Amino acid sequence: MKRSHMCNDVTEKNLGQSVTVKGWVHKRRNLGQLIFISLRDRTGLVQIVVNQEQQNLFELAQTLRSEFVIEASGKVIARTLENINLQMNTGKIEIEASELKILSQADVPPFQILDENVKEDLRLKYRYLDLRRPQLQKNLMVRHKTAQSIREFLNANGFLEIETPFLTKSTPEGARDYLVPSRIHHGKFYALPQSPQLFKQLLMVAGFDRYYQIVKCFRDEDLRADRQPEFTQVDMELSFIDMDDIISINENLLKKVFKDILNVEIQTPFLRMTYNEAMERFGSDKPDVRFDMELKNISDIVQNCGFEIFDSAIKNGGSVRAIKVDNANFSRRQLDSFVDFVKEYKAKFLANISANGKTSLSKFLSDEQIKKIISRMNARDNDLILICADASNKIVFDALGNLRCHIAKKLNLTNTNDYKFLWVTEFPMFEWSAEENKFLAMHHPFTSPMDEDLNLLDSAPQNVRAKAYDIILNGFELGGGSLRIYNYELQKKIFDLINLTEKDIQERFGFLLEAFKYGAPPHGGLAYGFDRLVMLLLGNDYIRDVIAFPKVKNASCPLTNAPETIYPQQLNELGIKISDES
Ligand code: AMO
Repeated sequence: MKRSHMCNDVTEKNLGQSVTVKGWVHKRRNLGQLIFISLRDRTGLVQIVVNQEQQNLFELAQTLRSEFVIEASGKVIARTLENINLQMNTGKIEIEASELKILSQADVPPFQILDENVKEDLRLKYRYLDLRRPQLQKNLMVRHKTAQSIREFLNANGFLEIETPFLTKSTPEGARDYLVPSRIHHGKFYALPQSPQLFKQLLMVAGFDRYYQIVKCFRDEDLRADRQPEFTQVDMELSFIDMDDIISINENLLKKVFKDILNVEIQTPFLRMTYNEAMERFGSDKPDVRFDMELKNISDIVQNCGFEIFDSAIKNGGSVRAIKVDNANFSRRQLDSFVDFVKEYKAKFLANISANGKTSLSKFLSDEQIKKIISRMNARDNDLILICADASNKIVFDALGNLRCHIAKKLNLTNTNDYKFLWVTEFPMFEWSAEENKFLAMHHPFTSPMDEDLNLLDSAPQNVRAKAYDIILNGFELGGGSLRIYNYELQKKIFDLINLTEKDIQERFGFLLEAFKYGAPPHGGLAYGFDRLVMLLLGNDYIRDVIAFPKVKNASCPLTNAPETIYPQQLNELGIKISDES
């Protein structure tokens, strides 16, 4: 029997025809003289009916269990009126079986395929069963289509797809490397790429002009709902361009992807916002602008009020900031839960003022001050003002920035079909690491400083802005990129500023610096988190649902049990001894 149709493609157009379908038994219902089999393949379901008059077939059909793999041939007939199911593409017809064959039997699966309440570890251990769920099949099909759409766009716009090595040297993207020991070179290690950053720049030096790759990247960092240790980037690099060129190409790319996948017309150009504005207004460098609740600085109103928390926050270089929730109707318990919520972001304090002036701060603030706060926040009627203070502005931004998103979710202000894109630009070039007691590159050290800030490199590196940009969608960082340094001297200066020794520089990036001596074009690029893009296209916020075989929180794979110990002989060959200490 040769398959003539995928299950979901058999419709009333095929009435009277003979068809052959193959797939998994989704359900079998025995109705006395008739057995109904709901057959599933990746396109959907079709109903097969076996009549008792066909004795042999009927007996075979009685032995079918869920998840058996079968093939069936028969005539397409109309369903009786009461059996019509308009929800299904195939809901007006059924296949009257004239042949039936079991291709493969199935044990009782460890969980019902459609059961939504199965623990994730179990689902991932049997991921091949989990992946039979129509939703996950759809997710991976959307992922495939998205990659196709991106490739079409980039191919049509002069980009070449070029692969870069996985067994390579460390790329500094801010995470730990996954390392691979070399058998041939004892004591030496490859690093899996955190991104193809250095190679794509070398491709520009080589003259390829426009490069792209849909490529795996590896980062040993803590997992989150939108992070995996191995993930996929849509990575690109272009020569002889400026930031506006890159932005415009990428807006057109996203326009095509959203049209192709969702049939949604997204409006371009996207909003642009500097890093400073994003932090001041939204407390985040990836602001969700689908809703308001913007942060406002109220330090000037409350300074020297005698309330220790406010006074010391301001005196020590921090601030007092607030957000306003419209028509808030929170219980005491909910308000307490917000206090706990901001604690996760290290904020020790969250107070509130209602628009009628009621507040636990009345002991410390005059009526005048309370009125001023209400007026600055434009609070009316049942609005509620939430106030955070800390000596570290970062803590205040983190706490209120995340709280506004948390509350927006609770109040259903985050419609997943509302696509609010924006570019965040003018990132600081460096960030201070208290842990390492030195400046680190905020994006990566190949990012070019802004021309107008070059003179600050020596005197005030903390104020230097970079030619870096992130593309944000609904509060997620979809991608990021920058214009690069393509000049040997400037690149060396940036390495110096982040305290890399000459030896470090030569060992880690000597090959890139050398390349710059042989004619490097001005260049820049961007990389999207491809998994994140697909996740947002699907209106999902869980990255694992768009990856065929994801890792769990501790970076292991329940299906294969990786990572695993290896044979002593393999360790010997690598010259590696495992110490008992962890
Ligand atoms: P960046 O480090 O910002 O830039 O990474 C680009 C995008 O990749 C996604 N991403 C991740 N997705 C899932 N899991 C992770 N662990 C993870 N880490 C990052 C994010 C992010 O925006 N080489 C530069 C790009 C460039 O400058 O051209 C880079 O890798 O969506």
